Amino acid sequence: MKRNAEELLTFILDTISNIASVHQQEKLLHELSKMCRDIVFADRCSIWILDKRHHTLWTKVADGVEPISMDASKGLVGNAVNDNKALIINDVQNDVRFNNAIDKKTGYLTQTMMVIPMENKNDEVIGAIQVINKKEDETFSKLDLKYLTLAASYAAETIGTILLLEEIDKTQKELIYIMGVTGENRSKETGFHVKRVAEYSWLLAKLYGLPPSECERLRDVSPMHDIGKIGIADAILNKPGRLDDGEMDIMKTHAKLGHDILRYSELPLLKAASIVAYEHHERFDGTGYPNQVEGEEIHIFGRITALADVFDALGSERVYKKAWDDERIIALFQEEKGKHFDPHLVDLFLEHREDFFAIRKEFADV
Ligand code: C2E
Ligand code: SIN
Ligand code: SIN
Ligand code: SIN
Ligand code: FE
Ligand code: FE
Repeated sequence: MKRNAEELLTFILDTISNIASVHQQEKLLHELSKMCRDIVFADRCSIWILDKRHHTLWTKVADGVEPISMDASKGLVGNAVNDNKALIINDVQNDVRFNNAIDKKTGYLTQTMMVIPMENKNDEVIGAIQVINKKEDETFSKLDLKYLTLAASYAAETIGTILLLEEIDKTQKELIYIMGVTGENRSKETGFHVKRVAEYSWLLAKLYGLPPSECERLRDVSPMHDIGKIGIADAILNKPGRLDDGEMDIMKTHAKLGHDILRYSELPLLKAASIVAYEHHERFDGTGYPNQVEGEEIHIFGRITALADVFDALGSERVYKKAWDDERIIALFQEEKGKHFDPHLVDLFLEHREDFFAIRKEFADV
């Protein structure tokens, strides 16, 4: 099985136009893997990523098998990565370097293999592309190796970018979580409040039918709802007892303050966080603060976090109040349906209350 130059070009252009139309990273990686597999008529392709810190190689994408992780110095893949050298092996079972542990586990018989290391822009090896078993029991040729190298060098650049984006995303999330916890510590509130609000928000978003990526985004940003409290004086924030009207007015500025802290960021996560900070005290009937926004004009992230936050606040002890019992909490949500809270969200919450209680139990304060 071979391709002539024209077929090869068509093949690559087809793949790339396919890739240009997929936005999702997972899908993109699958397209890349498929390109590498099909360009040389292999049965399977895996994209291995090198984790230098843990000295492991793990499969970011793998045909037919669950994600696998192995010691970075093991096997043919480990060899290719360590030596930064492409391998073409047509008698795998008799190669002493071969790590047959995975075959043993999956029951798949590897006979022929090519491995191409991938480098980033700084010429550091970031992983490898591996194809297994040329179709119709043929062997891989030098030309196959050349084609795969071509495909791999294209893939490497994209994969490097994806890894970088994932790293940035992870850093952002950590930052946001730490900021949320910081805001909370200032107000001496109990340790798991932000965690619980995050989980309640995620569940409400899921029940509401938001797409999974939006549910996850909300889970990441809802811990930030009270970040503005870092701007509220201690004497008010931690006053043991009811706030008077003047103090409450100052307290209420925490919503706008949070928004002001976050609004200038270009980071999508912080943009979403600023919505939550701004709108988590708006009420569905339009009598909340700071802007008296009403109904569905309140962003769904704001409407969800409002419910999650109050549910958690009522069930928790505060410097100014004792924790409420469950019946009283449920009664408040029934009463506030369509007033403080989005009626549809209240229905979902009441219907699935046991799941919310379970989250509260799982992340209870110690
Ligand atoms: P928080 O304590 O986390 O409460 C968040 C929201 O949960 C409150 O927003 C309110 O909607 C609801 N909530 C909490 N406790 C109660 C309660 O006992 N009864 C009712 N009906 N709802 C409750 P809100 O009212 O806008 O307050 C925002 C934040 O202002 C509170 O966050 C808290 O940090 C502070 N705060 C409010 N009232 C007082 C107070 O009397 N004393 C002190 N020290 N702080 C207060
Ligand atoms: C190896 O690299 O030797 C084995 C990896 C695999 O079976 O996929
Ligand atoms: C907190 O600051 O952690 C609780 C206050 C709120 O949720 O509004
Ligand atoms: C508000 O969220 O605007 C006031 C708090 C409440 O209604 O309990
Ligand atoms: Fe708040
Ligand atoms: Fe809160």
